[in-house]
Amino acid sequence: MKSKKILLSGVQSSGQLHIGNYFGAIKQMVDLVNTNEYESYIFLADYHSMTSLTNKEERLKNTFESVASYLACGLDKNKVNIFKQSDTPAVTELAWIFNTVTPVPMLFLAHAFKDKKENEIEKMKDINVGLFDYPVLMAADILLYNADIVPVGKDQEQHVEYAREIAGKYNRAYNTNTFRSPNSFIQKEVATVLGIDGTKMAKSKNNHICMFASEEEIKKKVMSITTDSKLPNEKKDLDENNIYKLHKLFLNTKEDEALKERFLNSTRVPYGYKEAKEDLLKTLLLYFKDMRKKYEYYTNTEKGRKEVMSVMKNGAKNANKKADEMMKKVRKETGLDF
Ligand code: ADP
Ligand code: TRP
Repeated sequence: MKSKKILLSGVQSSGQLHIGNYFGAIKQMVDLVNTNEYESYIFLADYHSMTSLTNKEERLKNTFESVASYLACGLDKNKVNIFKQSDTPAVTELAWIFNTVTPVPMLFLAHAFKDKKENEIEKMKDINVGLFDYPVLMAADILLYNADIVPVGKDQEQHVEYAREIAGKYNRAYNTNTFRSPNSFIQKEVATVLGIDGTKMAKSKNNHICMFASEEEIKKKVMSITTDSKLPNEKKDLDENNIYKLHKLFLNTKEDEALKERFLNSTRVPYGYKEAKEDLLKTLLLYFKDMRKKYEYYTNTEKGRKEVMSVMKNGAKNANKKADEMMKKVRKETGLDF
């Protein structure tokens, strides 16, 4: 039997998922993994999170809730190994080995670091070495499992390219072909999901709607979507209409046409923004109903919480098996083991 290609992706989660994350990344990932065409590994990048977070409770909470979210969003635990990065500590050993074949200038040019760096050394004192080294750990994440495809958002493309380069550098340094060149699988360009203020939805701007927040909180967010001041019986615009843009995400073509019609025909049949927001709220809650129920189960019941922990444990076991095989080879060919 032909062995399956290896799919791997990391998730660096900071807090609850919003609908921008869902439509922009998670949905595609879930669909891809659930095809069962790949041997899949998805991990929560808790080592990486240490470059920006030192609160241990928060890290554990983020990790747990992310796994619960992915399961709630439909990731099939029988088709994927989900684990936390730090349960496969071999990855830090591999990252160290990669550090020794990675030239400094390459990391100076990495965008995650470049974004934060100030020109003068003096001003770099707030940047930790872990952040500087972020791409090398990520290369280790990918190459430890010799992943064939790495589904990521466009912003992570450079990191996958670094993994390819580092694979080559290692292979040349130790005259081997141990590491395969991974390919990023850039998720198809989904339209940017806009927040309640009409700009890109992002946690940092607090214009987001969390999928798993309470109904009350979601309602509050939806009811505060920014609109112009048109009256119910005035004709509504679609291009500048934040309610329409959000509502559209949940609709098929036919439903979309019907909603457009309501906005455009509001001189004849009045359709005010308040009613439009209430309609959106209904659609949204219905769309996420099952996922919200599952999330509740995974996070708020003893049985569900145990299930999440057992999924992670099992994922880590399988991931370690693979990681150990690779490290055995690497330790031999680098002269660390006899
Ligand atoms: P945030 O910007 O809220 O901090 P993240 O940077 O953690 O979100 O993004 C995680 C994933 O979700 C990324 O793959 C990103 O492309 C996707 N994503 C985040 N916000 C949006 C959005 N507004 N529209 C589409 N995709 C998004
Ligand atoms: N850096 C990625 C992000 O911020 C997360 C990540 C860590 C990752 N290691 C990875 C993604 C390995 C893919 C493969 O989204």
